[in-house]
Amino acid sequence: MSGVRAYAPGRVNLIGEHTDYNGGFALPIALDRGTHVDFDPDPTASSLKVKTMSDAVDAGSEVTISLDTVPGDVGGWGAYVAGCVWALRRRGVDVPGGAMVVTSAVPVGAGLSSSAALECAVVLALSAAAGGPDLDRRTVAAVAHDAENRYVGADTGLLDQLSILHGAVDTAMLIDFRSMQVTPVPIELGDATVMVVDSHSPHSHAAGEYGARRRSCEAAAAALGVPELRSAAGDDWRRVDDPVDRRRARHVLTENSRVLDTAAALTAGDLDGVGRLMVESHASMRDDFEITTSAIDEIVRTALGAGAHGARMTGGGFGGSVVVLASAEAAAQIEADLPEQVERSGHPRPTVARVRAGAGAN
Ligand code: ADP
Ligand code: GAL
Repeated sequence: MSGVRAYAPGRVNLIGEHTDYNGGFALPIALDRGTHVDFDPDPTASSLKVKTMSDAVDAGSEVTISLDTVPGDVGGWGAYVAGCVWALRRRGVDVPGGAMVVTSAVPVGAGLSSSAALECAVVLALSAAAGGPDLDRRTVAAVAHDAENRYVGADTGLLDQLSILHGAVDTAMLIDFRSMQVTPVPIELGDATVMVVDSHSPHSHAAGEYGARRRSCEAAAAALGVPELRSAAGDDWRRVDDPVDRRRARHVLTENSRVLDTAAALTAGDLDGVGRLMVESHASMRDDFEITTSAIDEIVRTALGAGAHGARMTGGGFGGSVVVLASAEAAAQIEADLPEQVERSGHPRPTVARVRAGAGAN
């Protein structure tokens, strides 16, 4: 069989953080850069050899995944690939062996979903090589999510996989995580631009903070007698007795309304309105959900000081990246001055990139 190539972009969430596992709303875009997987299937092989060309995980490093023993104890970055093999097989897909090479333009650990881009590209490549009917996008998302949750062991929601699979050029996605409905929202920014500022300060779900937020949200939902926070009314958070869980619930419930308001403001071309909601979202993540860091807060402050419409942390938190919406003039100033300003205030020097909403995985 001839080689198979699959692509999956990174994603940046414009707004709607830690809402996915609460059945709420988010408004992400797929990035205009991503991860390619080149797969040379060999039906006689009993293993899958995978090489990554990514510097962040030691370019050229290889893992061999035995198809006889999966799920075995593959660790490190290979676990993401082994998890995809495991999750596909559970759905009856006859995954072939062979040689796979991964190349990626998504920075690793920057909160831009390099891990989900890897999973989605691997699932697409392996399922195409296995033959049989094409998996629809929701199934690919579910397989990749299973790999991450049940094999790698990161208890994340579906934001990353759905954004990556449903992305479209110059289009944001309004995702409703209760109905799993994905509604395209065209982006018309005129001369304004979306920027991603990578703080280069680590983010890690493994530290347990992500899971702790999840449990707090579940406790708040239980206190309110609802199956998930989405089912609570807007100011129900006031009725949660535990003060920490109450603040977590306030973040989630107010964030859900901000997502809907942002989608409306974006559609109306009201970039100042979008920017205000981004700033409110950041404050909510900083004060109520407590998932920002001083480096991230400094980047947001500096971007706003340069005249950006809005700026907020994006992704799971505890580091990672800031998403900025800026006019042409503010964007130029941010590119010229922000890295040095943030470095001078004692934080790692961030990198700034202009991004556009790009195509989804294919
Ligand atoms: P992110 O926000 O980038 O998804 P995570 O910490 O969730 O951050 O996932 C990053 C991990 O995903 C890396 O440490 C590595 O194990 C794996 N990974 C991502 N991209 C690649 C790649 N191109 N090659 C190998 N492993 C990758
Ligand atoms: C990501 C996680 C997503 C989502 C997000 C916060 O890291 O993978 O599922 O919960 O954090 O919005």
